Amino acid sequence: MGQDKRRPLLAANWKMHKTVSEMEEFLSSFLKMVSGIDDRDIFIAPSFVCLHDMVKLLKGTQVEPAAQNMFYKEEGAFTGEVSPKMLTSIGVSLVILGHSERRHIFHEDDELIGKKMESAISHGMRPVFCVGETLEEREKGLTSTVLKNQLSRGLQGIKESDTGRVIVAYEPVWAIGTGKTATLEQIQEAHALLRSEIGKLAGEDIAQKVRILYGGSVKPGNIKDIMGLDDVDGALVGGASLEPESFAQIVRFEEN
Ligand code: PGA
Repeated sequence: MGQDKRRPLLAANWKMHKTVSEMEEFLSSFLKMVSGIDDRDIFIAPSFVCLHDMVKLLKGTQVEPAAQNMFYKEEGAFTGEVSPKMLTSIGVSLVILGHSERRHIFHEDDELIGKKMESAISHGMRPVFCVGETLEEREKGLTSTVLKNQLSRGLQGIKESDTGRVIVAYEPVWAIGTGKTATLEQIQEAHALLRSEIGKLAGEDIAQKVRILYGGSVKPGNIKDIMGLDDVDGALVGGASLEPESFAQIVRFEEN
């Protein structure tokens, strides 16, 4: 472990926040704050309405745009959906899939998420694949079963050699947007479990390369300790990514 440290990745998930002008305002401050930082990856996932303009504004910067979701078909009668072909055609190759809000509010199940994962990979995209247990599942001692099931179902349609393109995000549902961060022990334990499961599914070499992000009430005040954990390679940040100062502080995690 750690022999070839994985490149850190700090990702913003804006959820249903920010209009186009608010996005522009954010970028005009944020890009200055992170200019010159080139030893880590930075992604921002705005709403679909902002995505095309964001692609243009991020050209020539080290920050990459990402989508928060997509459907698995290329086109057709799927009212309200956005396809992988539409995303790649505007230069977006990153997509968050299986976020707990998609699973719990919009009832996406493992089967649908698995199809989206397969579609993202076959379109040359890099999915940020979210997994995580609810509080009830944790209290019943089901955390590792839930994580193993979500992981294997999400990866089942993906060839072993393509698994290296997947970014995994561990997001305990009870820590998202609640201000309750998982403890460092809980985070490391879940990440180590996920890495070892990836090893079983795709081989040890790939498991050592796959980046596993933590998400759930990440803030400037806790990111440094979280990033210090062996199997944590980055963070997926909701609330604290909405202000340029706070997301920039998270990007510069070691200075906090
Ligand atoms: P939060 O959201 O940082 O607001 O808890 C994280 C996420 O849902 O990705």
